[in-house]
Amino acid sequence: MVPKKYKIHRIQAREIISSAARPTIETTVTLGDRRSASVSVPFGASTGKREATTLLDRDKKRYLGTGMLKAMHHVNEILSAELKGMDVRKQQEIDQHMLRLDRTPNKRRLGGNTILSVSLATARAAALALDIPLYKYLRTTYNVRDKHYKLPKPLMVMIEGGEHADNSTDIQEYLIAPMHHTSVHESVRICLEVYAHLKTILQKHKLSTNVGNEGAYAPAGITSNTKPFELIIEAIRKAGYKFNKDMRIGIDSASSQWYNAKKYYLKREKKYFTSQKLIERYQTWVERYKLFYIEDGLAETDWNYWTLLNMRLGNKTMIVGDDLTVTNLELLRYAIDVNAINAVIIKPNQIGTLTQTMEAIQYAHEHRIETIVSHRGGGETNDTFIVDLACAVNAAFLKVGPSRGERVEKYNRLLAIEQEIRR
Ligand code: PGA
Ligand code: ZN
Repeated sequence: MVPKKYKIHRIQAREIISSAARPTIETTVTLGDRRSASVSVPFGASTGKREATTLLDRDKKRYLGTGMLKAMHHVNEILSAELKGMDVRKQQEIDQHMLRLDRTPNKRRLGGNTILSVSLATARAAALALDIPLYKYLRTTYNVRDKHYKLPKPLMVMIEGGEHADNSTDIQEYLIAPMHHTSVHESVRICLEVYAHLKTILQKHKLSTNVGNEGAYAPAGITSNTKPFELIIEAIRKAGYKFNKDMRIGIDSASSQWYNAKKYYLKREKKYFTSQKLIERYQTWVERYKLFYIEDGLAETDWNYWTLLNMRLGNKTMIVGDDLTVTNLELLRYAIDVNAINAVIIKPNQIGTLTQTMEAIQYAHEHRIETIVSHRGGGETNDTFIVDLACAVNAAFLKVGPSRGERVEKYNRLLAIEQEIRR
């Protein structure tokens, strides 16, 4: 007999609005004693081809086809009945059951968004029932071996372009991270001071300070992909920090978005690059701008050259898979086997269940691959589950934009966890 307080009584979903002004799904798990917990899930703008499906209604008469009525139906009419009566603490069993019901590799029948919302809401409800913080619950449920909490460093987007902003750089993101991480509140403060100085520097250069999807500046009309490096270095110095001593710079190329017929096209430079030439370009940037981090430097199908990129730069720089690996254990395993990466992005909605996300993280850590838990640039919500996740597993970084409510909510949760752990 499952005690009432742990028994799943009902699961219900709602259509809510994401930061992209487009619907997403929020799911509530209610337990036998009528306590309940909710989770909402995000979606991407520059998604990997092998990500779990975001199930949309495709009814052009509602939200131009992006409604969540089908996803809601699957939760309310299928998953709720299937999972009713189960022990909310049996997370792995619950996830397995949903995988069996879907039976597709990319969760296209029930939807990755649908399944993930139930999976994460289950975990949040279990933590509530046990009366422990979510990050602690995740740590014990998945037997994370670390004894102590080592909170993630902020990896903050400063300038964005690509699919996240019109008419800005080809490179999707220019990021900063503190070199020394004494505390979350100090690290966040330093990054935000640089962000504030960057605003006046952009203005000085007559560039706009409007922000893009992720709350970073998206200077329209910028003519060069390297200008952001100079602007950010200037901002770091203006803020009173030493470039490459206190603060470092990285990029997310999201290069699958500008890769076609085995060529990379940089619009700002009106130039095509072979994989080899693009790697040489990265080498120059690493020397000149001391990049410590290159995410999706090559396209998700350009496997052979990933190995070369990692061989050339992996000893100086984090070579990070995102679209390449999509939080998928099988792809991650392959990437490690062929030595394509030394770090990996983790986004639960790329794979669609908490258990599979944890498997990917634990496999990465067993193979000395650093993990970066990340927000989505498409449609985010105010949900902070990923922050608890990052803390539970001692992820190296938490990647989130610097402004907009749905982004700062994540930093605020991280600050709260820091305070709680220190007490
Ligand atoms: P996305 O992009 O969430 O919009 O897909 C973010 C990223 O590539 O890291
Ligand atoms: Zn990315």
